[in-house]
Amino acid sequence: MTTVEDPVAAAARCTPEFRRNPHPVYAHLRDEAPVCPMRPPHGIDTYLITRYEDARAALSDPRLSKDMYGAMDAYRRIFGDSSLALDDNMLNSDPPKHTRLRKLVNSEFTPRRVESLRPRIQDVVETLLDGCETREPVDLLPAFAFPLPITVICELLGVPRDERSQVQGWSTTVANTGFGEEFKQAQAKAEESMHAYFADLLARKRSRPGDDLLSALTATRDKDGGLTENELISTAFLLMFAGHKTTAFLIGNAVYHLLANPAQLRAVRENPELVGRAVEELVRYDGSVETATFRFATEDVEIAGTRIPKGALVQIALTAANRDPLKFESPDQFDVMRPQTEQSAHLGFGHGIHYCVGAPLARLEMQLALTGLFSRFPKLALADPASEPRWMEVPFPAFRGLAELPIVLEPA
Ligand code: HEM
Repeated sequence: MTTVEDPVAAAARCTPEFRRNPHPVYAHLRDEAPVCPMRPPHGIDTYLITRYEDARAALSDPRLSKDMYGAMDAYRRIFGDSSLALDDNMLNSDPPKHTRLRKLVNSEFTPRRVESLRPRIQDVVETLLDGCETREPVDLLPAFAFPLPITVICELLGVPRDERSQVQGWSTTVANTGFGEEFKQAQAKAEESMHAYFADLLARKRSRPGDDLLSALTATRDKDGGLTENELISTAFLLMFAGHKTTAFLIGNAVYHLLANPAQLRAVRENPELVGRAVEELVRYDGSVETATFRFATEDVEIAGTRIPKGALVQIALTAANRDPLKFESPDQFDVMRPQTEQSAHLGFGHGIHYCVGAPLARLEMQLALTGLFSRFPKLALADPASEPRWMEVPFPAFRGLAELPIVLEPA
């Protein structure tokens, strides 16, 4: 058993030490309190699940609801009122609404549409790298990791180029995690702007459809009809929100771990076809979604001997489950050659009916980002290899990503 000073408090308060390295805390919780009651700063009784098998079962447990409208009081206390209009989407709903929304979105967000973005993603990768300083240290997060996914989502949705910077600004504000009145007001304002913007964009897509996903979603219908106006707006928002920070943080985590593990990087450089496996291993080893898997118990539920009372918030720690030694051999080792059966078992994109709709796009972006970066800059290095990486400080560990990633693309 790993000894950690008050692991529950560390996880609940997200202490700097826990941010730097959450794994000893998660190891302790997996051993000692696999379904751990805690009270994070938002004040809602929360149960944190850390073992792989429990996490996998919980992700597809119909007694654990994602219907935020059904858990309104708790939801308001965490997120405030404002985002409700934007949350009329699949991530925040249970069947049958979830089934209907997901089916409609899937009918247009097809593997073919994702594949058709490949040349455009390659272009964006190259253009962003063209704009980077090569001899001096550059922070890869604002220069590359954040602009890449948001530009790709704008392409996917059909946001016109000259409107992208304002959409990116709102998306960044909305995706930030924080507490306090000022923060909440800024977020509410960005959400209102985004709602109004997507309403206007949808009207334009209806009158002049393009070959983008938003145009397709305005027209798509099944036997029960199509998406309502607010579902369309909320779905556009969801795709932007769910696909931005997640992918950006993963690019940062991935580049850091490859640079910090030269033998692994060498293996990928020598066998470029390994990049897909490297991405899978990176999602397992240090994925970007840590505990942002909110669910509410709709009834009293018992998991691994612990009773979770009706109404409690349940968070499934993907970061902990993906390092469970009962599931993965030497889980703390980053190994791109890990057996594929283990690699494909990770929970980094979730599991069950809410499994990430954007996973094929995220995988493609990651592969093109890493290939573009490492093949164009063979000597790419951390600007200061001796210093500890600085991880994003957050009030609770919803996402995991670096606060900065100083690198030199072409060291002298
Ligand atoms: C759901 C992870 C990128 C769209 C999820 C879930 C996870 C996840 C863990 C399940 C959440 C839960 O069960 O509570 C990630 C990671 C990404 C990524 C790690 C990048 C590396 C994307 C992208 C898009 C996207 C690029 C789209 C453009 C979605 C949507 C859902 C979702 C729409 C909700 C699915 C549903 O409720 O049925 N994602 N995601 N994600 N993701 Fe992703």
